Amino acid sequence: MSTQYCGLVSQTDLGRIVSLCGWVARRRDHGGVIFIDLRDREGVVQVVCDPDHLAHFEIAESVRNEYCVQVRGAVRARPAGSENAELASGQIEVLCESLTILNPSSPPPFLLDDDSLSENTRLTHRVFDLRRPRMQHNLRLRHRVVMEARRYLDQAGFIEIETPVLTKSTPEGARDYLVPSRVHPGSFFALPQSPQLFKQMLMVAGFDRYYQITKCFRDEDLRADRQPEFTQIDCEMSFLNENEIRALFEAMVSTLFKNVLGVRLNEPFPVLRYSEALHRFGTDKPDLRIKLELTELSDAVKDVDFKVFSGPANQTGGRVAALRIPQGGALSRGEIDGYTEFVRLYGAQGLAWVKVIDSAKRREGLQSPIVKNLHDAALAAILERTGAQNGDLIFFGADRAKVVNHSLGALRLKIGQSEFSVAHGLCETGWQPLWVIDFPMFEYDEETARWSACHHPFTSPKDEHLEQLESDPGRCLAKAYDLVLNGWELGGGSVRIHREDVQREVFSAMNISADEAQQKFGFLLNALQYGAPPHGGIAFGLDRIVAMMVGADSIRDVIAFPKTQRAQCLLTQAPSQVDERQLRELHLRVRQ
Ligand code: AMO
Ligand code: AMP
Repeated sequence: MSTQYCGLVSQTDLGRIVSLCGWVARRRDHGGVIFIDLRDREGVVQVVCDPDHLAHFEIAESVRNEYCVQVRGAVRARPAGSENAELASGQIEVLCESLTILNPSSPPPFLLDDDSLSENTRLTHRVFDLRRPRMQHNLRLRHRVVMEARRYLDQAGFIEIETPVLTKSTPEGARDYLVPSRVHPGSFFALPQSPQLFKQMLMVAGFDRYYQITKCFRDEDLRADRQPEFTQIDCEMSFLNENEIRALFEAMVSTLFKNVLGVRLNEPFPVLRYSEALHRFGTDKPDLRIKLELTELSDAVKDVDFKVFSGPANQTGGRVAALRIPQGGALSRGEIDGYTEFVRLYGAQGLAWVKVIDSAKRREGLQSPIVKNLHDAALAAILERTGAQNGDLIFFGADRAKVVNHSLGALRLKIGQSEFSVAHGLCETGWQPLWVIDFPMFEYDEETARWSACHHPFTSPKDEHLEQLESDPGRCLAKAYDLVLNGWELGGGSVRIHREDVQREVFSAMNISADEAQQKFGFLLNALQYGAPPHGGIAFGLDRIVAMMVGADSIRDVIAFPKTQRAQCLLTQAPSQVDERQLRELHLRVRQ
């Protein structure tokens, strides 16, 4: 039906008769001559409908926005002065000889270039929303990333193997989506939170390099970077240690950025231990573009009069830390109060601060509600350790370490992304990848009074911590790693436990009884008995990689048909109620 794409018609086609199919992006009636901007996936071309050349000119008069039409005509240069440098096809136009309406369109729900639309409107009319050039670009770039990932993995000897979607629960820390069985009354499949256990069993089966670009399903609190169903580039390999695995996937991520975006990431990526990341940035996924760091003060304020500081400083699990803002003295009281309210969202009780007016004058050169309660040695430590200069502002957090890290980590991001930061050069542009390694094996869950796995329970402890699994689980580190880019966790993985006895010990450290372990993970424990090779892997969030690459705030902008924050599909209205008959077949009754 067409000889080429609308958006690709160019000067090389001058004089040629072309046939084009697309949608009417805009129609302008210039009294006697009608201009149609005809759009397809490649862009827009200008079509001129002139009664002298177009036999059925009334057709041109009847077309409206978003009609699907076919045009035949000759490519000619645009008259001097009417070229459009912004369009690939901006030097030419098509003089229409025949125009066919392939399908008219109802009046569109919104204009494609309207940037003020709510996300609900966009998701309700998603089919139309996807016609926007930006969405077309996002999904095509997603395709490129997938193609490049497949090519890289194929060349590295990986083969893609599909794993079941109807399966048993895999513990990745979220709730499961359950599927009732008709054949087995009262029994349920779980949709996989990841293919974790299957990929491990494929290693035991001897497929030493597996990958799969696959959907995962997690019923969890949704955010901009989380969807209930999302896509992983999921990988597993045998006979590689932690460093070898990281090297292989650092190269993959670099290749994706180079081949898809033409961006060279600086290699090798920096490597931070988990404890160091928390210490310096308050988070295990630091945005290294922001040039602000936390400073440890716990030991320096143990014996000050200010109870807000000395309390947590003397408490196990407490922390006092500072965040120095270069030139932050320019921030007003109102702005400081705003930040104080902000950190309360993260559990902080307050936000003490000091403005450094003239550090040579020591105490007298500081402006702050708290210095009167701090002795000279503490003040000296604060100034020296933060490296504060005249004109700087120092914020303080004092609480349980978790609260301090959470709140100052969030404050660091908030200030780092503010206009103040841009104006004072506290935030760089570009790409800052890093690895975070040496995660703890377990974290203590106050609610259940149990240790739970930080990554997942199949992650191997460090060899030197095997002994402490039972006696001191809180001190055990894991062979786990995350890849972080500009503050987003793009991927995470670990070396796995390949020995059945160690796996049983880890279950036991987590208070999972032998019976429960057998019932939930018997198939894994069983597989580990048959010469399971040392193995490990990683999974990347494809949606997150693509969102970062196109600069989207939310992964919803790189998923064709995403769910809302409330886990609904506004296009199809899923989830929805089902017939009583269907429920009966599934042996279910809905409780009122
Ligand atoms: P993990 O749970 O860290 O590891 O997930 C791996 C990566 O998947 C992405 N991701 C998500 N993306 C969008 N929406 C979500 N709800 C979501 N949850 C996770 C993140 C994350 O880094 N089986 C292990 C991997 C392994 O050990 O090999 C796993 O799933 O980018
Ligand atoms: P107060 O003694 O409660 O008036 O607090 C004095 C200053 O300390 C105020 O600026 C508070 O915002 C701040 N502050 C109070 N609690 C904390 C805390 N846990 N961490 C950091 N600053 C705090």
